[in-house]
Amino acid sequence: CGIVAYIGPKDATTFLLEGLQRLEYRGYDSAGVAVLGKSGALKVCKTKGRVADLAAALPARFKGTTGIGHTRWATHGEPSDANAHPHTDNAERIAVVHNGIIENADELRAKLTAEGAVFRSETDTEVLAHLVAAHLGDGEGQLEDAVRAALKLVVGTYGIAVVDSAQPDRIVVARNGSPIVLGLGEKEMFAASDVAALVRYTRQVVHLEDGELAVVRADGFRTFTEDARTVTRQPSTVDWEVGSYDTGGYEHYLLKEIHEQPAAVERTLSGRLDERFATAHLGGLNLDARELREIRRVKILGCGSAYYAGEMGAQLIEELARIPAHSEPASEFRYRNPVIEADTLYVAVSQSGETYDTLAAVQEIKRKGGRVLGVVNTVGSAIARECDGGIYLHAGPEISVASTKAFTSTVIAFALLALHFGRIHDLSPADGRRIVSALKALPGHIRQILEQDEEIAELAAKYADNAGMMFIGRVRGYPVAREGAQKLKEISYVHAEAYPASELKHGPLALISPELPTVALVPDDELLDKNLTTLGEIKARSGRVLAVAHRAPEAKLADHCILVPKSEPELDPLLLNIPLQLLAYHAAVALGRDVDKPRNLAKSVTVE
Ligand code: G6P
Repeated sequence: CGIVAYIGPKDATTFLLEGLQRLEYRGYDSAGVAVLGKSGALKVCKTKGRVADLAAALPARFKGTTGIGHTRWATHGEPSDANAHPHTDNAERIAVVHNGIIENADELRAKLTAEGAVFRSETDTEVLAHLVAAHLGDGEGQLEDAVRAALKLVVGTYGIAVVDSAQPDRIVVARNGSPIVLGLGEKEMFAASDVAALVRYTRQVVHLEDGELAVVRADGFRTFTEDARTVTRQPSTVDWEVGSYDTGGYEHYLLKEIHEQPAAVERTLSGRLDERFATAHLGGLNLDARELREIRRVKILGCGSAYYAGEMGAQLIEELARIPAHSEPASEFRYRNPVIEADTLYVAVSQSGETYDTLAAVQEIKRKGGRVLGVVNTVGSAIARECDGGIYLHAGPEISVASTKAFTSTVIAFALLALHFGRIHDLSPADGRRIVSALKALPGHIRQILEQDEEIAELAAKYADNAGMMFIGRVRGYPVAREGAQKLKEISYVHAEAYPASELKHGPLALISPELPTVALVPDDELLDKNLTTLGEIKARSGRVLAVAHRAPEAKLADHCILVPKSEPELDPLLLNIPLQLLAYHAAVALGRDVDKPRNLAKSVTVE
């Protein structure tokens, strides 16, 4: 979900709508705004659907100089006009937008209902509007005090923005587990859940910490804690260019982000390769060589693509450092009372740094005394802050819901970690040098693959209209198959299944037919012959094969082939994945899908 807020001399609605458009990747099943005009009357407009639907629904005279807005990814209650934010109290005096979950909403709702509150939605957020109103009473209390008192009764996570029609000179925002950032303008102030909404208007921002609130006025702001203690926050400057948040001439963010990968990889590697000692420098780990030597196991946690990137990471660590490593969905890990070991290094992977399941896993590990590193793209995000150290990706803002450049940069970060780890253990200087020079060559290799964009688009058009697709890979190729299948599912809605190539004959071979083509990862490594045998088995059952390979298999084994430049075997999976991104992208375009905002999904899932 996304939050925006404006207070200043201009019409708030213009900023709110534009800001919401920029945050739409975070949730897009309903949207709404509330503004206060000079007279102080509260106007609310909200609708199921996209920000464009909201803009179309706005009455002509919907103007005000103080306002809040929201774009939603439904959790409590289906997407509907009533469940869209902002939510108001009985008297329509207070309006609230909220990201996160109020865990004790049912209890609070019952209490407030008994006191006369009339609920008009199924959301947990509406509780906040009634609670704030109850604390204001009929008197002339300050909005910030009422919000603070209301939040003391709330259990859960939130980023909120609140307006009061009786106090149009201020907006109150608060953060606990869901980000809020203030934007400082000239005699105007902004707030949002993500800097992406602000960068067109200001580069000066203040990130609230968990447990903090701010009262925002046109001429400034004051931050304070839940106990009303004032805290001083210095503004920082957003370090990404405004252009990083635009499509930059590409038809979709996804295509732009796929093409940004060579530059993103260069940034992830920048300043971290040490040619003299054939190792990697990772200043943020906060672990010295002695501490690293004591680690006996690595457990990687993440959700969605972050989990698959973790699988590639686990293989890199096992191969280069010979330390057992395993990746698990953070969403599963946190629910199974995991055994936390002192000599295991836990690594949390998250592009956004906000995914709630991953954050909860980190908190559980820390509570049990475990040590966690973060592999995170968003600097200063909740997961990054919660971890003991880590590696920032520096991949740049990723807007499209499906992850591409952050995925690739995550694998690079793991290659660096594995190299660093390996050189502390038994990886020879010669092997270290081999990996260092292969890493340096990767951006060029990725560029070579991206040049095949048009050919891959033609292949995607040929394969897109099948009911399903099988993705297979062996060992290093299996996580590639999983991520390739995930990408296709997410954005084209074509059913895709990933299997280890070795397991095909133990079951899924029964599915093979001309209607279920197979994308096969066929790197030129020690398993090449095994993979070619599998292709033969598929062709013998009249299956169609699209190979992604270093060398084209014989025509009788593959119908089509995408050639990928060869790196070192440990790093090949990363390159084999790139054509699969383009394949999914072009399949989605061919099928007329909403590529950047696939149905039912959101970029960061900040709820359970
Ligand atoms: C959501 C997105 C996925 C993403 C996952 C993890 O489910 O739809 O594309 O891979 O979250 O996101 P993170 O920000 O933690 O990497």
